Amino acid sequence: MSRHTVRIMVAATLFALSAGIAHAADAADTQKQIDAIKGALPKFAIPMREVGDRFQNMYFAAKGGNWALAAYMSKYMYGALNPAKVTKPDEYKAWQAFYEGAFAPVEKAIQAKDLKGFEKEYAAVVDSCNGCHSGMGYGFIKVVKQKAASDVGIDYRVKSQPGDVPK
Ligand code: HEC
Repeated sequence: MSRHTVRIMVAATLFALSAGIAHAADAADTQKQIDAIKGALPKFAIPMREVGDRFQNMYFAAKGGNWALAAYMSKYMYGALNPAKVTKPDEYKAWQAFYEGAFAPVEKAIQAKDLKGFEKEYAAVVDSCNGCHSGMGYGFIKVVKQKAASDVGIDYRVKSQPGDVPK
């Protein structure tokens, strides 16, 4: 091997090494940015406020025969916790299990426009909301049914069908 060739090989190796180090620095920087974004995403407390409001509104929508609004509240009550998929993946699984399990009869009653069934299941599911709060160390957050909806700026008596909610 000529001296010249050796020099080229050494230079190439050094170049590859420095590129590797730069790449690792880039990856670390990207990870730092991802962590910062994750840190800024809501965990449970902020979305739970939305859950609370939508849950209360749902009752008055069903009661008023605005079944699409009730279905809409249910859909976005569930979706409110989406950021927790990233920020609290284990706890999110418990939320998903709640919505697909304990909450399912409420959703079913909405889809069937069954007001009697809805009122019964709605009252029952409040215990499951509070069961999760206790289980996660938040027994002091006790959901109670309000006498009026959380949002007063919506007409809860518009007659509609549960299937009217756009996909
Ligand atoms: C998977 C467990 C779980 C389920 C199910 C659940 N919650 Fe929560 N909820 C929490 C946790 C945890 C907090 C406390 C948030 C925190 O500090 O991170 C909370 C807090 C709240 C708060 C207080 C929010 C605030 O900061 O003002 C309300 C209101 C609430 N939940 C309503 C409900 C309602 C209504 C239901 C049922 C439809 C429900 N939750 C079901 C876990 C749950």
